[in-house]
Amino acid sequence: MIDERGWKQMSFNIAIDGPAGAGKSTIAKKLAKKISFVYVDTGAMYRAMGYYFLQHGIRAEEEKKIREACENISVTLAYEGGVQKVLLNGEDISDQIRQEEVGNMASATSGYGFVRAKLLSLQQDMAAQYDVIMDGRDIGTCVLPNAQLKIFLTASVQVRAKRRYDELVEKGECCDLAEIEKDISERDYRDMHREIAPLKAAEDAVMLDSSELNIDEVVEAIYEYAKKAGLEA
Ligand code: DC
Repeated sequence: MIDERGWKQMSFNIAIDGPAGAGKSTIAKKLAKKISFVYVDTGAMYRAMGYYFLQHGIRAEEEKKIREACENISVTLAYEGGVQKVLLNGEDISDQIRQEEVGNMASATSGYGFVRAKLLSLQQDMAAQYDVIMDGRDIGTCVLPNAQLKIFLTASVQVRAKRRYDELVEKGECCDLAEIEKDISERDYRDMHREIAPLKAAEDAVMLDSSELNIDEVVEAIYEYAKKAGLEA
């Protein structure tokens, strides 16, 4: 297969897009392990940038400062025992970027074209080199338009908020379900309505609603689609 840059594509790529909390990363990680693919969490890259802006007291509206800060940021991925680690200027910040505040900052700043441009080639290079399962918002539409399989994974706002709530409670963090639901709705709106690379399903994506399915059922469903798309079982 020839990719959009005219390079011969040797790898098998699975793109999973969808809104926050649909279960993309849990499912992508599990499937990647099952079929020995590299899992690439692109949200973590946007979170790493968001984390940098927060650490430097830069607000999402300060476009000029964000543009300048981009010059000083290097985001890389490393794998330890198959687990993705996100490095910001060489420092492992994989745990710090999981806070809600960082997710919201990532969402608010990922609308800038120069933020997206910074991460695009890293994502495309990984997919050209390796068999990847990559999750995000624009993977099927922008990053990997030639992916052999594209999945658009959704779930209702209520289901997604409840999952997030349970996760936080399990970690011993205090939280409010209504607040999480509001946060998720706002994030959906922002991610879907930005001008550049908004969250939307590619025309050739398979639509999967995970509201009524458990993790293993979704993993199995995607695995079956992948085999139909040419993955050797
Ligand atoms: O998937 P996540 O919640 O970790 O992503 C955090 C934010 O990063 C998300 O709200 C929007 C942005 N993002 C993006 O714009 N494009 C991607 N491919 C992945 C994430």
